[in-house]
Amino acid sequence: MPSYVRSGSLPHKRHIQFRRPDGGLYAEELFSTKGFESVYSLLYHAAPPTATLDVRAWDRPKIVLSPNDPVRNRHFLTAKLPSGGDAIASRVPVLGNADILISVAEFSEPMDYFYREVGGDELLFVHHGEGTLETPFGELAYRANDYLVIPSGTTYRVHPSSLTRMLVHASSGAVKIPRRYRNEFGQLEEHAPYYERDFRVPTFKPPVERRGEHEIRVTNGGRDAIYIVQNHPCDVVGWDGYCYPYAFNLEEFAPITGKLHQPPPAHATFEAPGAAFCAFVPRMFDYHPQAVPVPYNHSSVDCDEVLYYVSGNFMSRRGVEEGSITLHAAGAPHGPQPGAVESSLGKTSTDEMAVMVDTFAPLMVAEAVEPCEDRNYYRSWIQESP
Ligand SMILES: [Fe+2]
Repeated sequence: MPSYVRSGSLPHKRHIQFRRPDGGLYAEELFSTKGFESVYSLLYHAAPPTATLDVRAWDRPKIVLSPNDPVRNRHFLTAKLPSGGDAIASRVPVLGNADILISVAEFSEPMDYFYREVGGDELLFVHHGEGTLETPFGELAYRANDYLVIPSGTTYRVHPSSLTRMLVHASSGAVKIPRRYRNEFGQLEEHAPYYERDFRVPTFKPPVERRGEHEIRVTNGGRDAIYIVQNHPCDVVGWDGYCYPYAFNLEEFAPITGKLHQPPPAHATFEAPGAAFCAFVPRMFDYHPQAVPVPYNHSSVDCDEVLYYVSGNFMSRRGVEEGSITLHAAGAPHGPQPGAVESSLGKTSTDEMAVMVDTFAPLMVAEAVEPCEDRNYYRSWIQESP
């Protein structure tokens, strides 16, 4: 919710009569968060979104998570996982805890149903591919290196126009812009690495007024259902407010660099309950004449660090490839692999792109991802004898 947006046709005041050309009333919907106390939008539907014809069980495959025990650093080559299906069916869970579930999805088929995650906001990172998110707020086109923020409760479907790979974060709460980037009025401050103009909002589309049997697959905290509704979800003639899906492309991210190595919080993008997100994008390295460009050895004692490797040459990591996910577990030291410090000296810039999420509760590992694990990763820092 970067700022207030209005789109389409609206009555001049909220909660008053708003009539269709045929004299009937539009159906106003308040789309609110934290009850009535946080951001919200008002949507005007051609027909009520409440007309539910049937509710059926949705037997999704259960997600099996196991503790990272014995606690250690892990590496999953997720590009080796099977792909196919649509944006939801293709999701393969990787890591999760009570705050967040991290999955990967590679797909080329459009969804012939709508999806609605109600347990919290979703943050999708588009690794590659192009397509469209169809929502009641309008259409949001996506491309490589986009973050898509989808508020909890948003009904949507994904129409890929090319093979698309996404990293999916399903949060248990709101995905927000860090508070320290905002001034007292909510505007992004001058020191923030992005600006309101960098965020893309849905393009308004004419309402789809189609009565019939429309399928919406709903998930909420492990409870799954298939709703059959009478009116097309994208029959909105206008909406306004602060709560809507939006996109942000990492090419617009203006990384903060310095004389010496900048720690991950300098690269923060979003935050959510129990999770902090960062992006490492192509940038100039530190300009102290004796600076060490790669990160120092590091043991984060109170969070698990998850890196997803997007593109470029990952200078400080041996054995990772595009699509790799590393889990650096709380208390297990990590850092540049042998030789990486020396080979980084004198370099002035990096072309690497990676996205990170730190979680403040331990992550568990999904059974589905174990076949693509590099099981020797935790030994990758061993120095060979001369
Ligand atoms: Fe770290």
